Amino acid sequence: MTANIEVNGAPRALEVDPGETLLDALRAAGFKGVKRGCENGTCGSCVVLLDGVPHFSCLLLAAALDGRKVTTIEGLGTPDAPHPIMRAFAEEAGVQCGYCTPGMVLSAKALLDAGPRPTEAEVREAFDGHLCRCTGYVKQVQAVLRAAAELGNTGTGTGSGTGERTGGAR
Ligand code: FES
Ligand code: FES
Repeated sequence: MTANIEVNGAPRALEVDPGETLLDALRAAGFKGVKRGCENGTCGSCVVLLDGVPHFSCLLLAAALDGRKVTTIEGLGTPDAPHPIMRAFAEEAGVQCGYCTPGMVLSAKALLDAGPRPTEAEVREAFDGHLCRCTGYVKQVQAVLRAAAELGNTGTGTGSGTGERTGGAR
C-alpha cells in the first residue's frame, strides 16, 4: 500500500506493508539519519518530528500517516550548511558516537520552535526519552542553550512557534 507522507518538505509516496513502522519506511527510503535502537520507544534514537512534534518513529505505523508531515535530521541541515542546533552540538562537544544525536537535535528543534529561550530544566525535559551512552547529557544541554542564545541574538528563529512545550518525545 502507499503512504503519502511529506518528508522534509517534499511529498513522498512510500510503498509500505500494513504493519511497517515509520522507522523502517524512512530508512528504506534512504533516510538513514533515523536510527534504529530499542524499537520499543525507550531509547529515542529513532525520533522524528511529526507535524513538528517529536515522536518515536519505531512506534508509528507508516500506513496510518497519510497526509502528515515528517521531518528527519536530513531535513534540518547538511554538513556544509548545518542548522544552528547541529553546529552548536558540534561546537559544544555534544556528540561522541553520534547515535543519539539526530533524535536529540530534532527534539531540541521542536523545543526552540515552541519558545526561543528555554530554561535548562525545559531543555532537560525535552530530552526525556532520549538515551545517550556517551556524554552524560551536559554537553547537549549546553548546546541547546547556546543555539537558543544564538538564534535569539540573530533574530532568525527556528520556526513559526506553536507555543506548545513538547516535554519529550511521544
Ligand atoms: S528505536 Fe528506540 S525509541 Fe525507537
Ligand atoms: S553520543 Fe553516543 S549515545 Fe549519545
